[in-house]
Amino acid sequence: MPYLEGPLRAAFDAWLEATRGRYLPPLTFSEVRKGVQALSSLYVERRSGGRIAARAAAGEGKRAAFATYYAPLHFLMAHRALAGRAAEAFSRVRVVHDLGCGTGAAGVAAATLLSSPPTFHGIDLSSWALDEAMLTAHAFGLKARTRRAALPEALPRAGAEDLLVLGFVVNELDSDPRERLLRGIETGLTRGARLLVLEPLALSAAPWWPAWAERLARRGVEERTLRCALELPAFVHEMDRACGLDHRELRARVLLGPLGTGA
Ligand SMILES: C[S@@+](CC[C@H](N)C(=O)[O-])C[C@H]1O[C@@H](n2cnc3c(N)ncnc32)[C@H](O)[C@@H]1O
Repeated sequence: MPYLEGPLRAAFDAWLEATRGRYLPPLTFSEVRKGVQALSSLYVERRSGGRIAARAAAGEGKRAAFATYYAPLHFLMAHRALAGRAAEAFSRVRVVHDLGCGTGAAGVAAATLLSSPPTFHGIDLSSWALDEAMLTAHAFGLKARTRRAALPEALPRAGAEDLLVLGFVVNELDSDPRERLLRGIETGLTRGARLLVLEPLALSAAPWWPAWAERLARRGVEERTLRCALELPAFVHEMDRACGLDHRELRARVLLGPLGTGA
């Protein structure tokens, strides 16, 4: 299956091309590859050292890897998780709050699937990531604002016009802030907010997942496993091969909903 089609694919390709153009050069492909390998090892094997967010955004190689490799993958995962479901169910959404937005991939992917373009609101600890998120949102024609702040305190007071997106960020929080975040999300859902959470399949990275799925199911949020075979963008495919990784099947855990129109 092609990774995207039509005008969205054209916007995605132009975004990825422009992002690559900001990092390669000055970096070489091999320096970005080392960045991908460093991030992959940080997320998979070296989680216990703490401060994952700061360690992940330290150094040009890792930033470039984040922006040119992981972000397009996260965009495509969010797109596949929502495709065919979001437009109607989330028709009242006016603002997509991308919490722990990184370079904006997951929130912008969600926003591009809504029938009337929402505003993108990115929140992250990293000002580098927020600058990138602004560029991502603009690349897809969205109005955007960003805020440098920490979750769970930064969780907005969300209601029926809000979609909360948490792409691969909950696993970076310790248990106490994670529980406070979950309570805040539950309150938002009670007020009519919608939710998209994405996390890796490996439960070792997200042992809290079953408890979140159970609590959020009481508020109409559905748990799914995304497994989707896709042709990858050429750069991502090339990087995959160079790093010995394989994303030809995109996989993620997904919490999504409520999917009723709420009208
Ligand atoms: C793995 S990245 C994912 C980025 C993006 N959501 C995506 O799907 O590509 C996690 C992001 O969460 C941010 N982050 C981690 N802990 C955070 C916190 N407590 N508050 C706000 N942002 C946080 C990090 O700075 C990083 O940009």
